[in-house]
Amino acid sequence: MADYRAAGKSVGLVPTMGALHAGHASLVSRSVKENDVTVVSVFVNPTQFNDKQDLAKYPRTLEADCQLLEGIGATIAFAPSVEEVYPEPDTRTFSYPPTDTVMEGGFRPGHFNGVCQVVSKLFMMVEPDRAYFGEKDFQQIAVIRRMVEDLKFPLQMVPCPIVREESGLALSSRNALLTAEEKALATNISRTLFISQHYAKNHTLEETKAWVIDTLNALDGLEVQYYEIVDGRSLASLSAWDDSDDIVGCITVFCGHLPVRLIDNIRYK
Ligand code: PAF
Repeated sequence: MADYRAAGKSVGLVPTMGALHAGHASLVSRSVKENDVTVVSVFVNPTQFNDKQDLAKYPRTLEADCQLLEGIGATIAFAPSVEEVYPEPDTRTFSYPPTDTVMEGGFRPGHFNGVCQVVSKLFMMVEPDRAYFGEKDFQQIAVIRRMVEDLKFPLQMVPCPIVREESGLALSSRNALLTAEEKALATNISRTLFISQHYAKNHTLEETKAWVIDTLNALDGLEVQYYEIVDGRSLASLSAWDDSDDIVGCITVFCGHLPVRLIDNIRYK
């Protein structure tokens, strides 16, 4: 990376855990457009998995990932080993409440600490000018933004819109773990969120929240873990529509036989 820097080249970083799909490709393409050099990290980070089974069943497809990256013009695919990233156990702790304590933070203790550990290391190793993250992981962006401000990383965060299948299902590496039938079932998540944007126009925030949860829980094979309607920046829970002009609904749903944990979000304002 030092050579690129010495030559005055701008560097974009797309951090990923592999099993790349069109959502990742959109981040990479944007970085390729906006930077001289695009580094894509492919690393299934053990420290962000609080559930060992979830780590074990996370899809790993490095060969296919590298082929995809070559095809869309990424400069470097960086796939370090666990030992390279963590020669010693990482004992650093990061705390950015409420962004890292609500929602995913509550249900996956330690998850965002692990995300901050690995992303801060990637930022130090690659020293990007811009870092690209998908808005499907809406909460993750809020937490990393706080870390960037806190540790004064000299880079620009570039949030990129969710990429969806034609059915509306948000693209996710985890979708590969769903059977065809479960995938069809999972399309109810985004469909219900989109309908809720209309429902919200003549219902209270609490009514809208309850409607989304009840609609999805009524379907066999889906179970909502949480649905929160939050301020888009602080991620603090809201109790009425007029509390903020940046309002996002964030959902996590268990789907199917494994089950697969799927997340999605929708903007109300
Ligand atoms: O969003 C992800 O895939 C991961 O959380 C990230 C940012 C690559 C860190 O491991």
